[in-house]
Amino acid sequence: MVKLLLVEDNIGLREQMKWALNADYEILETESLQGCVDTLRKDKPVVICLDMGLENKPERGLEIIDAVLTEDRLAKIIVITSNMTADLGSRAVERGAFDYLQKPVDIEELKVILTRACRLSSLEKPPVEKAADGLPSDSDYLMIGQSEPMRKIFDHIRKLAPTDVNVLITGESGTGKELCARAIHYHSNRRNEIFVPINCGSIPASLMESELFGYVKGAFTGANTDKMGLIESAHKGTLFLDEIGDMPMALQVKLLRFLQDQKLQRVGETSFRSLNVRIIAATNKTNLSDKDNGAMRTDLYYRLSEFEITLPPLRDRKDDIPHIAANIIDNNRAKFNQPRLKLSKRADQMLLNYSWPGNVRELENKLNRASITCANQVIEAEDLQLSETSFTVLSYREARQMFDRNFLLNALKQAKGNISLAAKVTGLTRPTLYDMMKKNGITVQMEAKMDDKAAE
Ligand SMILES: Nc1ncnc2c1ncn2[C@@H]1O[C@H](COP(=O)(O)OP(=O)(O)OP(=O)(O)O)[C@@H](O)[C@H]1O
Ligand SMILES: [Mg+2]
Repeated sequence: MVKLLLVEDNIGLREQMKWALNADYEILETESLQGCVDTLRKDKPVVICLDMGLENKPERGLEIIDAVLTEDRLAKIIVITSNMTADLGSRAVERGAFDYLQKPVDIEELKVILTRACRLSSLEKPPVEKAADGLPSDSDYLMIGQSEPMRKIFDHIRKLAPTDVNVLITGESGTGKELCARAIHYHSNRRNEIFVPINCGSIPASLMESELFGYVKGAFTGANTDKMGLIESAHKGTLFLDEIGDMPMALQVKLLRFLQDQKLQRVGETSFRSLNVRIIAATNKTNLSDKDNGAMRTDLYYRLSEFEITLPPLRDRKDDIPHIAANIIDNNRAKFNQPRLKLSKRADQMLLNYSWPGNVRELENKLNRASITCANQVIEAEDLQLSETSFTVLSYREARQMFDRNFLLNALKQAKGNISLAAKVTGLTRPTLYDMMKKNGITVQMEAKMDDKAAE
């Protein structure tokens, strides 16, 4: 049931609304503005009915609208005004409220507005539905991707996660290898156990054996106590061996032995310990196996790569760029405690044309920086500071596709989502327009959203 928060200090009216609406909504209530903010944080209602006459502080009511929308930009606020606050209705809508209603409240009218608000809210993607655009991972971020190659990868992750096969993840720097490893862990039966990431490139070769395998007291000078190694600390969970190409050859033999029977010997120990660890390794090197002149023993390579996932560079999955960018901007709102930012059209275009040598990490860095430096809540192309030398030259096909998409979106926007009108102004037939929308990934849902907005 949709959560509806009633912010109203007139008990009689509140009870009346509650009685009329509690069959269809989960009702939350408060009689103060502070109560509204508190309930919002705690219970995250989808729709809020806000009395603007509360505490005789109409201006504060407007501030509450800002606070609510900062907390949840998709929240639907229905403002209730009285004679005293009649002029506030339209100001509230300007501020982002969904609609307004005058006292005395006509319950039937309120019901219609509520239904409309809920319908729109369900069309806009709530955070949980974001999973449809990507794959949850056990780190803070979703692994976003709608492009064909990423969908395939998500499918593989879902299938192989519950098995215990070793996985080797390859891909250029910043393509999301660690995020992918975390997603595998998150979708496996080990999700409630530990995920231990180890960067083989950052541990000095001389210390790596004792760090990974642990040691017993007296094993070498300075070994004053027994110490558990990182592999053992991942018992029952997942061990992520990042930059596996940097592991010294001598240790590779020892790791291979562990992979064969899940038995581990601490340095200086004579007996073996039985463990249960799932191994995921990653590298940004392309020729890893020594068969290809790489730095890894072929037998270890085969053992680690029972299943190999190759994450494509960001420039080869441009469809994902707008979604990842939107997600980063969304996350930054909370991180930098900022209002919602928008990308200008040109900035949007630049993101698509840039070749992203540093992949998603570079996209994150550029947007984080731009989120801080931009003015008027709009990220302009200049704020991104993209290096001139890293732009891709578009093929004719790509340029044409880009044109078609913008052309269609523009026409639909002008026609307020009305397909017949859009067809008329563009000189296309309705079937051709539909066909082009389909080819350009402009979905019926987007169109419905526009229709809905147009109907408001
Ligand atoms: N598909 C994605 N959706 C959302 N965020 C992503 C995605 N891929 C990567 N990221 C983000 O990009 C950053 C880099 O990802 P990650 O550290 O997993 O890359 P990597 O391939 O391990 O990089 P490196 O080779 O440099 O270690 C992280 O902040 C990660 O959350
Ligand atoms: Mg990494």
